[in-house]
Amino acid sequence: MKVFVTGASGWIGSAVVPELLAAGHQVVGLARSDASAAAVERQGAEVLRGSLDDLASLAKGAAEADGVIHLAFNHDFSDYAGAGRTERAALTTLASTLEGSGRPLLFAAGTAVVAPGQVITESDRTQGGADSPRGGGEALALGYADRGVRPVSLRFAPTVHGEGDHGFVGTLAAVARQTGVAGYIGDGTHRWSAVHVRDAARLVRLALEGGAAGSAVHVVAEEGVETRVVAEAIGHALGVPSPSVAPEDAEAHFGWIGRFFALDLPASSALTQQSLGWTPTGPTLLEDLAAGYYTR
Ligand SMILES: NC(=O)c1ccc[n+]([C@@H]2O[C@H](COP(=O)([O-])OP(=O)(O)OC[C@H]3O[C@@H](n4cnc5c(N)ncnc54)[C@H](OP(=O)(O)O)[C@@H]3O)[C@@H](O)[C@H]2O)c1
Repeated sequence: MKVFVTGASGWIGSAVVPELLAAGHQVVGLARSDASAAAVERQGAEVLRGSLDDLASLAKGAAEADGVIHLAFNHDFSDYAGAGRTERAALTTLASTLEGSGRPLLFAAGTAVVAPGQVITESDRTQGGADSPRGGGEALALGYADRGVRPVSLRFAPTVHGEGDHGFVGTLAAVARQTGVAGYIGDGTHRWSAVHVRDAARLVRLALEGGAAGSAVHVVAEEGVETRVVAEAIGHALGVPSPSVAPEDAEAHFGWIGRFFALDLPASSALTQQSLGWTPTGPTLLEDLAAGYYTR
């Protein structure tokens, strides 16, 4: 399959591209700069120059491909609403370009809070609407299942971890270095699910090849690791204490990531594992933290 991948130069994209190539697919990666283009080429993929703000480039990539994997996202959390609007426009362009073709459109999403204490499953649906998280892109894109597209939501765990990751856990480690404490919020019993980046990449390929139209795939290996345990592992590796931070002080202490670290986000992948024949093999988040990738 000729696959158009946005975000091919990013953390997850850099694992997905070699996985696709090794399975015999052809990859065209979107790149907005010379550096990103060089990164995509180094992986052995072709480059399409463009950006999320250049909707014509997204339409061209989708029109010329047998399938799309949309991973690019503007991670400027100081303008999360703006990033959501960009995401909505990008997904509308990609989905409408594929309309009537039956081709797959896989797109990155996150796991959401369904109800306090409840583990989200693939059957749970998230809110739509332009003001919803990520611009309500999941509901919008899954709606194209009735319009001749095979949309599949890739609900990534809040930490897709591994050597080289600079995402949420990397940010928490940076906060711990700056503040001298590896804190957790409240009693720290709220949970984050987790997945190793190689397991994630393999699942993305399986979902491309066989994910059902209109389905959500949970890119989740560990259902929920308590945030206190994550903080203590960072603290242990850095040799700093791990105190509780009061919820009302979380934003001042953690900055933008406090909003996410405060969420209880347990997620099951039982249906995904069964339907796509995926078995994560790790390492686990705590094993990667113990390996020192986040605290060197
Ligand atoms: N990593 C996680 O733990 C995690 C968890 C949940 C959900 N997700 C979601 O999974 C997706 C991939 O995440 P990631 O960790 O791989 O992100 P990342 O490492 O930050 O990479 C983001 C990618 O998007 C590209 N990009 C950003 N803005 C763009 C723009 N305006 N035009 C074109 N390309 C643009 C970047 O290109 P450049 O190389 O040019 O910067 C890069 O390739 C995202 O949607 C993310 O929100 C990730």
